Amino acid sequence: MAQNPSTQARTLKLGFVLHGVGAGWGDWRYETAVTDASVNFGFYKAQAQLAEQAGFEFLFVADSVHITPRSSPHYLNRFEPITILSALAAVTERIGLVATVTASYSEPFTVARQFASLDHISGGRAGWNVVTSWLDGSARNYGREEHYAHDVRYRLAGEHLDVVQGLWDSWEDDALVRDKTSGQFFDEKKLHKLDHKGEFFQVEGPLNISRSPQGQPVIFQAGASEDGKAFASARADAIFFHGDTFEEARAYAQEVKGRVAAAGRNPDQVFLLPGIRPIVGRTAEEAEAKFEALAALVPIENALAALARPFNDHDFRQYPLDAPFPDLGELGRNSQASATDRIKQHAREHQLTLREVAQWFARPKRSFVGTAEQVVDEIQRWFEGGAADGFVFFEALPNDSLKQFVALAVPLLQARGLLRPALPHTTFRANLGLTVPENRNTVARTAIAQAAQPAVAKAREAATV
Ligand SMILES: Cc1cc2nc3c(=O)[nH]c(=O)nc-3n(C[C@H](O)[C@H](O)[C@H](O)COP(=O)(O)O)c2cc1C
Repeated sequence: MAQNPSTQARTLKLGFVLHGVGAGWGDWRYETAVTDASVNFGFYKAQAQLAEQAGFEFLFVADSVHITPRSSPHYLNRFEPITILSALAAVTERIGLVATVTASYSEPFTVARQFASLDHISGGRAGWNVVTSWLDGSARNYGREEHYAHDVRYRLAGEHLDVVQGLWDSWEDDALVRDKTSGQFFDEKKLHKLDHKGEFFQVEGPLNISRSPQGQPVIFQAGASEDGKAFASARADAIFFHGDTFEEARAYAQEVKGRVAAAGRNPDQVFLLPGIRPIVGRTAEEAEAKFEALAALVPIENALAALARPFNDHDFRQYPLDAPFPDLGELGRNSQASATDRIKQHAREHQLTLREVAQWFARPKRSFVGTAEQVVDEIQRWFEGGAADGFVFFEALPNDSLKQFVALAVPLLQARGLLRPALPHTTFRANLGLTVPENRNTVARTAIAQAAQPAVAKAREAATV
């Protein structure tokens, strides 16, 4: 495919998922996998630095807060996102650092502090993936007997985010004077309480850390249900989604961009990023062999465990494997509503058995498998065809796929002007082309001061007469 000059200005927003031993159940057994990678700082550091050198815009750490013995190896034993990203901030320079933190099981005051700290530590590279948590066992790790219902989770997340973003503006940018001569450490009129009293949270503020380099760290979201899409399109700067095919991804991206515009926001400033698992080979045969090796690591018991996850770890071993996919009724609606609806619909439409559904769901997909030329062609097609503003890259083969992609596909992406050779800026917002929002308290204080000015002038006039 020839280089398209129109892509010069708009470049791919590429994120890399730090996923240690892999996203699945069997991939930790792949020949190159480092078996303790999910808790191995040296491994994370090497991957982070490789992604940064290649021009990836951000690192992403996924998360959840409940495990069972059937959870996948990476989920069973991994770093907490803010902690690992704070450590990686010290060994990287320009790449964005996106941590998942659940709104359902965290206090906004703590979350605001953590991300403001990460933003300061990294010189302006923090991003928050706001999730609502679908595993109902999460409740039992946080002193609740019952998990919040799906719609309540999104209402709560909206309020949580309001509080966090409000707290991030506690300090005006120039509030900390630090004048040794006068003894003034800060300007009290530039420090603001929040005084939030809502349905879920009561938070007085102010936050005990100054406004961070980005002012407002970048917000990510991945809601795919009605409530989820409404939340993401109203609040997120970048939105993750699943799209198996170009057509599916384009339909989804266009729908969400429409919602973003309907929410009064600029769709060009909200990035739609499907998750992909590329496998790049030096030849098509090599890529195919790797794809088959990965598929062989997903026997049916692993596929059933993977399928169980969006259904809140429902035990599918109870159903006959070769009978039609079971009627699950409402199961899944309070977990990953959208994903479970999609699975049920796929099973119905194609009249599949449980075995077929589990294999379809858990095994790698063929999109983005091939030579560098083939994979880059597909990336370009999605990017230029309105299906994606970029991608979030999951390593199909642990400790292999990123290296191959960087060695073989990245030079081609750069040659076609789809990816910048290096990140030009030191903050995540600047690399994304997003400006720093003005502090709401500065705006309000200035407006009040301006409104008061005629009155002050009149009073002065009266005094001199
Ligand atoms: C690329 C991608 C990454 C995601 N990462 C996480 C994650 O780290 N933690 C989490 O709880 N959910 C994660 N999700 C799931 C979403 O937060 C969301 O629950 C899911 O897409 C279902 O949407 P719904 O909540 O609107 O039903 C991710 C989704 C996608 C597409």
